[in-house]
Amino acid sequence: MDISSLKSQLSEHGQEHVLKFWDSLTEAQKQTLYKELSSINVAQVGEYFKNAQATLQAASEKIDDLLEPVPKELCGSVTRTSVDTLQKYETEGLKQISNGKVAMLLLAGGQGTRLGVSYPKGMYNVGLPSGKTLYQLQAERILAVEKLAEKATGSKGVIPWYIMTSEHTKEPTEDFFSKHNHFGLKPENVMLFEQNQLPALTLEGKLILTNKAKVALSPDGNGGLYKALKSSNVLKDLEHRGIEFIHVYCVDNILVKMADPVFIGFCIQKGANCGAKVVEKSFPTEAVGVVCKVDGQYQVVEYSEITQKTAEKRNPDGRLTFNAGNICNHFFTLDFLRDVSLNHEHELKHHVAKKKIPYVDDDGTEHKPSKPNGIKMEKFVFDVFQFATDSNFAVWEVIREDEFSPLKNADEAGKDTPTTCRTALCSLHSRYLSAAGAKLLRADGSPYPDSLSQPNGTDGTGDGNSPNDIPICEISPLVSYAGEGLESVAKDQTFTTPVMLELSSDGSVNTSQPKST
Ligand code: UTP
Repeated sequence: MDISSLKSQLSEHGQEHVLKFWDSLTEAQKQTLYKELSSINVAQVGEYFKNAQATLQAASEKIDDLLEPVPKELCGSVTRTSVDTLQKYETEGLKQISNGKVAMLLLAGGQGTRLGVSYPKGMYNVGLPSGKTLYQLQAERILAVEKLAEKATGSKGVIPWYIMTSEHTKEPTEDFFSKHNHFGLKPENVMLFEQNQLPALTLEGKLILTNKAKVALSPDGNGGLYKALKSSNVLKDLEHRGIEFIHVYCVDNILVKMADPVFIGFCIQKGANCGAKVVEKSFPTEAVGVVCKVDGQYQVVEYSEITQKTAEKRNPDGRLTFNAGNICNHFFTLDFLRDVSLNHEHELKHHVAKKKIPYVDDDGTEHKPSKPNGIKMEKFVFDVFQFATDSNFAVWEVIREDEFSPLKNADEAGKDTPTTCRTALCSLHSRYLSAAGAKLLRADGSPYPDSLSQPNGTDGTGDGNSPNDIPICEISPLVSYAGEGLESVAKDQTFTTPVMLELSSDGSVNTSQPKST
């Protein structure tokens, strides 16, 4: 340990206070703190802080005048596309999967503070009849879409799954996958890699000690992906496997369509190298980022960055002008990802969030502040849209109730909770069964209303049926990826809920009635 050199480096940048407890530390604590501090580039952190201040200032300014919607010709919508064209997109996507050209990339380095559990969010069980976790649902959907592709083309392709973790999530995620035999996937096709961390800072730009021997560090945002791609061997592995298209997504959407062949096919047919899946914004003031053009560059704009008047602006057809709600579901070609990671990563700005950061005071007492006392700096995955152009960007709009229900908060919050996720999945699956010709009955034998067959009849938001009256219905992804192939078990059948459809070991579909959750 060269403590005097570290000390002078820290002093040069006004950060020597992090060594104030040095003399009272044990040898082991000294080693850990020394290692941690040596890994922080304090000069760079100072630069980031300066830029972060400018970003904070800019975020408070409205940018309405610079805003344009994404040009119509770059957009497609699942509800406004003919069945034939949807089929073409799907066929294209399945072909690419069969040819081994498609990979999934999961962003799972977040700390899940709002949900408030101590383990990675992907390990969360929202209380489905099967008890499956988000990771298991995602793994089984990979197996399901691989099978669909094989059925459509006659050849089987593998979809490698890259999982970006962080200091907080890597080990438990690794252990979880090992413990569950990678949920039926081959371990060599599930690759974990780790994103970087950045120090949290006081509002004055000083490093924060959480205790006498530990600096406050947190993952550098889901846009940390691009730096992590450089520092890990993921780009090389993608090349080595001959992957051309990468579907990137967030861990928390319980309805995520893994390697969605329609989305992939749409983006490929549009000639896009960067694409975003979106849902229509529900109402003008909804707190969701909107994909649009800002001063000629593609970007996701937060509701707070525009005035209410702009948010409420409508097209002649009555739809909101800025209605492309970002759901963190992206398509990239490998060429695009490589170019961004190797050549443009440093151009991505850090976004700044004021946070409550636990700290130790001068007397050595640890505190958990009740109001924000510092900032965290994060890059965002979608900020690379700025490197796309009119000739290679595409936006695909899907039905929210079919594809998007994120797990963000604990149940008390009422929105984006385990309950809303469970409800969204059960209502989607009951619609799949109804569409396949089944009738669903409540446990007391009474039928559910017809509105159940409409997406917004069961969305759990209070607009349709109450979440308490949603049929508890779960279809294993191994039985059906997105509602297909259910007729043979569902047509003219009556199911009393709760009902669960699982694949048995002999390949037949097992219908069981689990205990209601
Ligand atoms: P969120 O912004 O919802 O953050 O992440 P979070 O960590 O899940 O939850 P909170 O804000 O602490 O409550 C959206 C997605 O980006 C990933 C998350 O794992 C999630 O899939 N993410 C977030 C990362 O991969 N790395 C990060 O540094 C931050």
